[in-house]
Amino acid sequence: MKVSRRVENLPPYLFVEISRKIAEKKAKGEDVVSFGIGDPDMPTPSHVIDRLCQAAQDPANHRYPESEGLPQLRQAIAGWYERRFGVSLDADKEVLPLIGAKEGIGHIAFCFIDPGDIALVPDPGYPVYSVSTMLAGGEPYYMPLVEQNDFLPDLDSIPAHILKRAKLLWLNYPNNPTGAVADLDFFNKVVKFAQQHNLAVCHDGPYSEVTFDGYQPVSFMQADGAKEVGVEFHSLSKSYNMTGWRIGMVVGNPVMVDALRRIKSNLDSGIPQAIQYAAIEALTGIQDCIQKHNAVYQKRRDLVVDMLNRIGIETKSPKATLYVWAKVPEGYTSVSFATALLDEAGVVVTPGIGYGRSGEGYIRLSLTIPDAGLTKGLSRLAEWSSTKSGLRTKK
Ligand SMILES: Cc1ncc(COP(=O)(O)O)c(C=O)c1O
Repeated sequence: MKVSRRVENLPPYLFVEISRKIAEKKAKGEDVVSFGIGDPDMPTPSHVIDRLCQAAQDPANHRYPESEGLPQLRQAIAGWYERRFGVSLDADKEVLPLIGAKEGIGHIAFCFIDPGDIALVPDPGYPVYSVSTMLAGGEPYYMPLVEQNDFLPDLDSIPAHILKRAKLLWLNYPNNPTGAVADLDFFNKVVKFAQQHNLAVCHDGPYSEVTFDGYQPVSFMQADGAKEVGVEFHSLSKSYNMTGWRIGMVVGNPVMVDALRRIKSNLDSGIPQAIQYAAIEALTGIQDCIQKHNAVYQKRRDLVVDMLNRIGIETKSPKATLYVWAKVPEGYTSVSFATALLDEAGVVVTPGIGYGRSGEGYIRLSLTIPDAGLTKGLSRLAEWSSTKSGLRTKK
């Protein structure tokens, strides 16, 4: 049997490789501490689960859902954006629930990318932006995110011949994997740039609620004219520890939202309704879980950043996201360093190159690891570093 070239050419999904390596080690009876995938370790808040269980008992929720989601869920999403960012949305035309943000990110390429078209994607970046572009027959153009530019893309350096073919501009702040943040000035500049070059902007913002030290991120939808040029993907995964329930949303430009609705209505039959009711509870119910989770992540962030700097790995403290983006010591690549940590210390980190060429020279550590594992992982790092003389990162 011969699979399509489309499938043949797919790069292996980054975390599949990591999971395989961990499983291999565990099968050999080795104990591995993983700072790999960004999957919240704390449970979904109990009031959300209670609502889910209650809704699951109702036979009305056992049938096919509408693919555009319950009107009450779309209203809850619009209400959340209003309260959270002061952004008004039409719940019928400018809001669409998704089976997790990843699903919408994957499918929107099919709405705007024809063979030969270009999508501008951040490098390093969440791999789905480029993979979905390729699946739709397009080409990703990688915009380097470098530290000297605060991990923001240098839009003015994109060549004119690329811009001519570009249809989509992908952005993601607070950023995975760098932990960088963007302000409203940057988003205002993005809107002007998109208008100038006729680009549809897809901003991906699932980490807007995972913030530290009182930092308040902005939504792309707050930028002047954002709704005319783009949409924002969001998710309940990281805000409410709901990765396993698969629910997210896209909001903004009604033409873009409608295009995605049309593609989706041909491919999926919506989100199980009990999960939609749980999402309504999460978005409209008591929000204190967010502060509680962030306090835990902030403590872990401080421990990780402190330890890495102590052992000679230069690391800045992120204001948001679940990730610490750390430089690789001299003499290593991101893969050789991650491999050394796995083989010699039993600690899993993600090599930066997995997120794109500009991720080389970095590793990513996720903070979604229970405190006991985190402490064990950090002491393993300290012990491992004591066997290496003069570990230090390039200036
Ligand atoms: C930047 C980014 N976008 C989207 C997602 C996917 O979110 P969801 O669980 O809603 O599909 C992730 C998950 O890690 C992510 O890091």
